[in-house]
Amino acid sequence: MQHQKILVLDFGGQYNGLIARRVRELGVFCDLRPSDMTAAEIREYAPVGIIFTGGPNSVYEAGAPHIDEEILKLGVPVLGICYGAQLIASMLGGKVARADMGEYGKCTLLIEKEAPMSESVPHKSVCWMSHTDRVTALPDGFEVLAKTAACPVAMYGDRVRSIYGMQFHPEVAHTEYGKTFLKNFLYKICNAAGDWTAAGFVEEQIEKIRAAVGEGRVLCAMSGGVDSAVAATLVHRAVGKRLTCVFVDNGLHRKNEPEEVMRVFKDGFGMDLVKVDARARFLDALAGVTDPEQKRKIIGGLFIRVFEEEAEKLGKIDYLVQGTIYSDVIESGKGKSATIKSHHNVGGLPADIGFSGIIEPLRELFKDEVRRVGTELGLPDEVVWRQPCPGPALAIRIMGEVTREKLATVREADAIFREEIERAGLSRDIWQYFAVLTDSKTVGVQGDSRTYENVIALRAVTSTDAMTADWARIPYGVLERTAARIAGEVKDANRVVYDITSKPPATIEWE
Ligand code: XMP
Repeated sequence: MQHQKILVLDFGGQYNGLIARRVRELGVFCDLRPSDMTAAEIREYAPVGIIFTGGPNSVYEAGAPHIDEEILKLGVPVLGICYGAQLIASMLGGKVARADMGEYGKCTLLIEKEAPMSESVPHKSVCWMSHTDRVTALPDGFEVLAKTAACPVAMYGDRVRSIYGMQFHPEVAHTEYGKTFLKNFLYKICNAAGDWTAAGFVEEQIEKIRAAVGEGRVLCAMSGGVDSAVAATLVHRAVGKRLTCVFVDNGLHRKNEPEEVMRVFKDGFGMDLVKVDARARFLDALAGVTDPEQKRKIIGGLFIRVFEEEAEKLGKIDYLVQGTIYSDVIESGKGKSATIKSHHNVGGLPADIGFSGIIEPLRELFKDEVRRVGTELGLPDEVVWRQPCPGPALAIRIMGEVTREKLATVREADAIFREEIERAGLSRDIWQYFAVLTDSKTVGVQGDSRTYENVIALRAVTSTDAMTADWARIPYGVLERTAARIAGEVKDANRVVYDITSKPPATIEWE
């Protein structure tokens, strides 16, 4: 089964990921792609509708992103949001001008004309605006559908060509009927069938995996995290015994994790799961390395080599499965976003990788969607709701060189923090919570003696997709207990600090 797709063309706006997510919440699969896609490429992609996002530019400015004009003649419904709406109007012969005063925040939206786009939206509602430019004259064939006090063309459309524009942002929660507008676009204008569900996704991926793999054999990189667990289970469903999962014990995992992975997947699910003890190799490879990017590259490279060796032992293996998800792809600089960090399951792959291909069934999903798929596959809550852990794990939570002793310190501190968060019943409200071993030492006093030991930082954030994050407002009592236990129970630590930086400007991990 091939599900219907909405194509979101990315003009660099802040809320673009959110648009994709809203569309999928409304039951239609959707993909965010760079705005330089050509009409021919779009025709081949065959979306049922196209959304142009907002963006930071002004349409008449030199260097502002434009599109292949043919896109508006494909006969596929188009919705332009903010910059997208201005771009359509200017391309088809209308006018865009800078307003004397911009509109930012909540505004009153008044529907000017009843249309399929505004079905079930009252005459007066709240919308959310963020613009200085605005459409001042519409091209021929278009009519004004809504306005605000400062924006006479807040929504416009041409029913014949099925082209629409909105100056406000329907994707943000502050636009009261934002979801209704998007739903109307999808179901009244694009006539979408609403066939994107976790069950549909599973079915489609199983078919795709079977078609790609044929009679071949598959090796799965199982890390124990949600993403690789869901990816492995999907592939297991598709090819059964032709899948072998390998868990590399790189010595960088959190406390008890290797044991849990074996218990849940080998003993519980009966998967063909091999554990490779590569702890010494990883430590040797990381000796003397302090640069975060280099740590990632080394870990990523060695990780793949270990798989290749395992594959050789198993005979001919054709494919490697990885649990790469959408935020990994974005953050690694595929598409238009700049490289922030090279996540080991995207960057750092050696060019001479010995498999015919890599299968990444979750590449287009957000974390919450991965969890929905996991539940659909029957994975237990303890796996589906496990907090994400980066591939390089504790290695990027130790500032500076990774050593056996430092691993033991951060592992113990991390286990204490996890225990306290779980005991307080906060684990599902917090996206990630972990300990970092800083490279600072401070003076303390224990009993009657002076100590000079490490500072442990605690990091806990709330997020929905790791693209942005806020520091978690953990009750002081929980922080206090955690700090007391770490300073008391962890041999090399005498001080605990709590990180209260959001992302951006910081990232979730410290390296
Ligand atoms: P940052 O630190 O960039 O992290 O805000 C965003 C999310 O990605 C995870 N992360 C990684 N995951 N390989 C991974 O598989 C990596 O190299 C990596 N680095 C960060 C991080 O834990 C957070 O959930």
